[in-house]
Amino acid sequence: MHFSRYLYVFALGFALASCTYKPVRLVQDFNKDWEFRLATNDSAGSEWRKLNLPHDWSIEGPFSKDHPASPGGGALPGGKACYKKLFTIDHSVAGKRVFLEFDGVFMNSDVYVNGQHAGSRPYGYSSFSYDITSFLNPAGEPNLVLVQVDNSMQPNSRWYTGSGIYRNVRLVETSASYIPYCGTYITTPSVTDRKAEIRVQTSVYGGSRGKEKIYLLTKIKDPSGRVVAEECNQIAFDSAGIQEVVQDLSVKNPERWDVDNPALYTAVSLLLKGSRVVDDYKTTFGIRTIRFTADSGFFLNERPLKLKGVCQHHDLGALGAAVNTRALERQLEILRRMGCNAIRTSHNPPTPELLDLCDRMGFLVMDEAFDVWRKRKTTYDYSIYFSDWYEKDLRDFIIRDRNHPSVIMWSIGNEVQEQWNRPEADTLDVRQANLLLNFKDKEVQEISEEMPFDALLTQKLAEIVRSLDTGRPVTAGCNEPAPYNNLFRSKALDIIGYNYHEGNYSSVPENYPGMPFVATETTSALQTRGFYMMPSDSVRKEPREWWLTYETPHLSCSAYDNMHTPWGYTHEGAWTMVRDSDFISGLFVWTGFDYLGEPTPYWWPARSSYFGIIDLAGFPKDVYYMYQSEWTDETVLHLFPHWNWSPGDTTDVWAYYSKADSVELFLNGRSLGFSAKSKNRLHAFWRVPFEPGTLLAVSHKDGQEVMRREVHTAGEPAGLRLTADRGNLNADGYDLSFITVQVIDKEGNEVPYAGNTIRFEVEGPARIAGVDNGSPISHESFKADYRKAFNGKCLVILQSTESPGTVKLTAVLDSLPERFTLSLKTGLVE
Ligand code: GAL
Repeated sequence: MHFSRYLYVFALGFALASCTYKPVRLVQDFNKDWEFRLATNDSAGSEWRKLNLPHDWSIEGPFSKDHPASPGGGALPGGKACYKKLFTIDHSVAGKRVFLEFDGVFMNSDVYVNGQHAGSRPYGYSSFSYDITSFLNPAGEPNLVLVQVDNSMQPNSRWYTGSGIYRNVRLVETSASYIPYCGTYITTPSVTDRKAEIRVQTSVYGGSRGKEKIYLLTKIKDPSGRVVAEECNQIAFDSAGIQEVVQDLSVKNPERWDVDNPALYTAVSLLLKGSRVVDDYKTTFGIRTIRFTADSGFFLNERPLKLKGVCQHHDLGALGAAVNTRALERQLEILRRMGCNAIRTSHNPPTPELLDLCDRMGFLVMDEAFDVWRKRKTTYDYSIYFSDWYEKDLRDFIIRDRNHPSVIMWSIGNEVQEQWNRPEADTLDVRQANLLLNFKDKEVQEISEEMPFDALLTQKLAEIVRSLDTGRPVTAGCNEPAPYNNLFRSKALDIIGYNYHEGNYSSVPENYPGMPFVATETTSALQTRGFYMMPSDSVRKEPREWWLTYETPHLSCSAYDNMHTPWGYTHEGAWTMVRDSDFISGLFVWTGFDYLGEPTPYWWPARSSYFGIIDLAGFPKDVYYMYQSEWTDETVLHLFPHWNWSPGDTTDVWAYYSKADSVELFLNGRSLGFSAKSKNRLHAFWRVPFEPGTLLAVSHKDGQEVMRREVHTAGEPAGLRLTADRGNLNADGYDLSFITVQVIDKEGNEVPYAGNTIRFEVEGPARIAGVDNGSPISHESFKADYRKAFNGKCLVILQSTESPGTVKLTAVLDSLPERFTLSLKTGLVE
């Protein structure tokens, strides 16, 4: 690489002059005005219809257990489809480059521009960019982009995937010389309170055929937007191609990125030809240090911090897999209020917006690449593509995500079958192994019992990660805890990660001396919001057998923390074990939100999970408040269950609380005594013979009242309460308002069993983007204008259009004559 030394005078002079440069890179939202057609059995296909992206056709339904995805995949349809869009570029792109960037298409996409094949991508979670310059028609003439999607080979996953162009698409226009897609890599080789060293590695494409000189001017802006460092280098190109430029800068008194102060810096990369800016590219990053230790867990900025995390699948409930930034932000807000500080992107690369939000909101991320390698879990899963694509998919994933300060570790797999040390029928010979692994610096000489192929494969995947990022450790979620697990045996992991096997935590230091440890997946407890099985202090493990479905017609799980899978644990149990062991870096609870598919412990007619701390509609289950009482500094008092039982029923009453010594419970004014939590029981508890009326809990500290909460026996449905999470929406066609609709009695109490149908009408510039009620067994459409309440409530999601104005939502309860309304405003919100 030839580039001249730093030219101080030039750079400074130019930097001043270039403060007001005109943006040259054009990045266009390419989501609007597509047409879509589902392939049908005859060759004609369905009618073309207009829509905007991101789009997921599966979520449109209908539900059926006979779809090839099965209830495990959400009991929703897959299939094949085609998207097309006409677009015209009104100016000449001669001497420029035009790219189409896709954040993800599920799955097996083929992109054509004006009939020419731009590329294909099997893995539906990979992001990619295609250079379409040479396929374009002259200025002013229409171009046709066509995207074929094939999600017909199912089951290909253990959860709901969604189908289609379900993530964002952009059209990017650059000069002939440019910084390619994901073309920067920013690290902080040394960070102290006085100074942070920043290394910016930039790929630069020099576009001329002959010799050319380009300058790369990199400016670092602090969180307030002030330029705090800059460096300029000349890059000489002998011919067109890519050069890697390394620039070392430093920032004085850096502001650390942290969970409670997610300070973000920006690197602005300007490519200059003479004094002309030919490309401008921005990368956000953070200055922070991370460290995982074997004895004291995780450190962020040299401060010990327990990872209080949840695993999340990528669907957004009623919106399906179609990415929406506000919907993701809402999920994170709900999790943040619970005290959650970490997310595991189980079990695939997330949408980039999730990581942007985690950067901005201060979440730590375990970024995961795969659920399967070569050995399959479902008939048509990624194992089919693994050998041909793993290297590219893994590389692209690391390159895309490695600038995010939120990302603190890479996971190369979840419970991959390769972990099991079983004699394999398909063990590769040395020649095949070398072909597949293609190590950088070594040739496999033998495959032995000590180092089986799958351990070598683990080494290969870790090698790929480390060749692209040395700043984060590599781990994997393993449910084989023994040291003969091939992934552990490979010695290629930096952190031991267990899924479940809570009983084996204590032997980790002995079995894996010197290795940091994280509980990559825990709990798998089972709960239905608002449903209670007593006695609450007897723990049920389900499924004992899948046939039990037919014995449990309610298909519900208990919202006391007294039900979990045989491989799982209660929430309180898993958390207390992690809480009490300093060497455990933290945990990722399975799961934060319920998700579509994997309807454990029941099967059809159930079609979504019961694992969430929060249901599919985003309504917290009771255990949410256990975490809130343990994980936040808030004063918490949450009293449950509801108070609509039959006279004489023995009813267990629980209260999650914090900042108090104990809680006193009153029934209709009579004290039922005090109860306090203990080291391992994280709730107060009373067994109460039911009588209708009012249950009152009062928490106390040092004899002083801290907080009180009441639950009343509710009467018949008499009205609806509509509560919007946001009343002002951006009129951008994307923004959402999540409106909770509660069925209430005449006193305003939520009616806990209410299951009435509620119909919606919308007037003004918004549309219904989805409806839900959190029930895992509902087969009503998510895209309807009505929904039954489930255990007292449902949700309607309104989406803005591009026109500003006032939106009126009207809700009607089947049995009542009144209409209940709510108004929202849409306009330009900064
Ligand atoms: C785990 C697995 C998850 C999910 C969970 C359900 O073993 O990693 O993807 O299937 O079980 O309990």
